[in-house]
Amino acid sequence: MLEKIQQTTSFLKNKIKQTPDFAIILGSGLGNLAETITDSISIPYKEIPNFPISTVEGHAGELIFGNLSGKYVLAMKGRFHFYEGYSMQQVTFPIRVMSMLGIKNLIVSNAAGGINPQFRTGSIMMITDHINLFPEHPLRGKNMDFFGPRFPDMSCAYDPEFRKIALQIAKENQITLHQGVYVGNQGPTFETPAEYRYFHTIGGDAVGMSTVPEVIVANHCGMRVFALSVITNEGLSDQINSHEEVQENANLTQPNMTTIIKGVIKRGN
Ligand code: HPA
Repeated sequence: MLEKIQQTTSFLKNKIKQTPDFAIILGSGLGNLAETITDSISIPYKEIPNFPISTVEGHAGELIFGNLSGKYVLAMKGRFHFYEGYSMQQVTFPIRVMSMLGIKNLIVSNAAGGINPQFRTGSIMMITDHINLFPEHPLRGKNMDFFGPRFPDMSCAYDPEFRKIALQIAKENQITLHQGVYVGNQGPTFETPAEYRYFHTIGGDAVGMSTVPEVIVANHCGMRVFALSVITNEGLSDQINSHEEVQENANLTQPNMTTIIKGVIKRGN
């Protein structure tokens, strides 16, 4: 595995002149951010050695290197979901590569179902913590000592400094920014009404099918993490959920998501 990571890293290093300051995983609701990256180079996943290929509708597969908010960034347009059938090692492979490239900061976005009754569809939740309900752990197996310890601390998985900056930016731009706990559930089914209620009972504010594996591995690598969820549906409302609705609502929230992310990149170090 380490060899594969090294191979992919040196392939990418040959294409860029400097180490990116930030990596960004563009989930639902952030795809357009890629178009605002300037002086960019794009590399389709299929051209990158050892990279898995994204399959789900609405998630293109390419890495984009370029400038954003005065920093040099690497954006992942399209991510790998566990429900697509990838192993946890595949899902988190890009994070290992980011770390080996020397990237210290990771921004993640996703679509999530709101389970805090205060959260309306179209609003944004900044993730302050998570509950990992995936059936498999990305760090299971022999520890990769090169990246981090066997038993990584997770007491502060989402960087407090980035969160502070995001709250300031939201205030300055009159954007409602909720804060809460993200429950990572494997999918691909949306939850039953009883499951949404259960996840709320155990302390969740939103539920989604991604992010947690990547954030665990980023923490293992010692990266600072900032993560936002677009609330695309209200889990406690007994509504019918659909992927189309999730994508539509994620897209509507895109401008506010972009404002916050750009601000964090600009002011965060
Ligand atoms: N559940 C899980 N994942 C999701 C949801 C949801 O309600 N909405 C968007 N992603």
